[in-house]
Amino acid sequence: MATEPVFASIGQGDVDFLGRDPVPARPYYDPAWYELERKAIFLRNWIEIGHVCELPQPGSFIRRELEFAGASLLIVHGKDGVIRAFHNVCTHRGTQLTQEAEGRTSTFSCPYHRWSFGLDGALLSAPDFESFGLAKADCALSRIRLEQCAGLLFVNLSDDAPPLRDWLNGLAEELETLPVAQATTFSEYVYDINANWKLTYDNFQENYHLRFIHPKTGQATFSPDNPYGYPVRYRFFGPHRTQTIWSNPEPRITPLQRIAMGKAMASALQRGIAGGPNGREYLALFPNFFILGTPAPHFSHVVYPLGPTRSRGVIRLYWVGDDANASERFAREYVMATARDVHAEDRAVIEAGQRGLSSGALKHIHFQTQEALCRHLFVSVQEAVHQYCDEHGEQP
Ligand code: FES
Ligand SMILES: [Fe+2]
Repeated sequence: MATEPVFASIGQGDVDFLGRDPVPARPYYDPAWYELERKAIFLRNWIEIGHVCELPQPGSFIRRELEFAGASLLIVHGKDGVIRAFHNVCTHRGTQLTQEAEGRTSTFSCPYHRWSFGLDGALLSAPDFESFGLAKADCALSRIRLEQCAGLLFVNLSDDAPPLRDWLNGLAEELETLPVAQATTFSEYVYDINANWKLTYDNFQENYHLRFIHPKTGQATFSPDNPYGYPVRYRFFGPHRTQTIWSNPEPRITPLQRIAMGKAMASALQRGIAGGPNGREYLALFPNFFILGTPAPHFSHVVYPLGPTRSRGVIRLYWVGDDANASERFAREYVMATARDVHAEDRAVIEAGQRGLSSGALKHIHFQTQEALCRHLFVSVQEAVHQYCDEHGEQP
């Protein structure tokens, strides 16, 4: 039985505080602006880099490359159960300790002169160590702040940033109610794209393009009372934002989707409740992460800048519990493949947008009310850059 549709278009009055002015185009391609964003935003904010289910036991580790910082990180599950992050850099003369993307170990041993480090980063042994005149306690791996919420791992390269929960600005509790907090496994799709990170990210922040770019695959979101699939509600939490995404009250769910989602979730979708009054919650954490919260699939996307006009996206579908059988494995991969197909429809138009902007033809771009989340990201970026410039005497 379908629930009563509650769609009402979001009005300009709901987002008046963001203004209506044209938005400068330069921040979407200019290398000097990108450099300011790197320092003002990416080196000072909590950046999502993975999930605790990747580090199931003591000794489990993952390596993460943060191109925007020129850094390679080791995220390690310690013997004491604590998950820590270190620079993947030997404290003798700087050699990277491992090139493995993930694994399980009891120590990290440098390939150059065999300095050896424990899971807590302490220097355990080093050949001829007495000849250095050093104390081992002063040679531990360089540590990076790592905190978690809802199983999601965040790192921060600044010592001055507030704790993760303060920075989440009231969203921590909401995140913790999501299935991702219980996730035990995931499907992943990584892509590089010739586009500024904000363009890549904004494509997921508006449904204005759905009817043109996804006329077929967008059908799940369209229904007669909301033919363009516009969202139901926006909320703003400092630089973070959420939207309740419209759910067609009478969705078509394929048998494979039903298997992948599990019975409870499929039946919730079928009833059109999908975790909210009439939609699914989309939680966007500044600067570059969002998760589609409820109930399934548990879709997350993080966009890492690689340069002013290049970025890398990591899309994950988080799952709770191992595959029950081969059908479930197949169904989960099918849902991942479907998500990838939909995104394939976007990629060419995102890159075409970048080429147009990079030509310098435009001084400004424009966002309408239904693109308010893109405007909110821009406003948040601009505020962070201006604050950084004020603090450091630089010109934005
Ligand atoms: S650089 Fe690592 S042991 Fe020498
Ligand atoms: Fe799209």
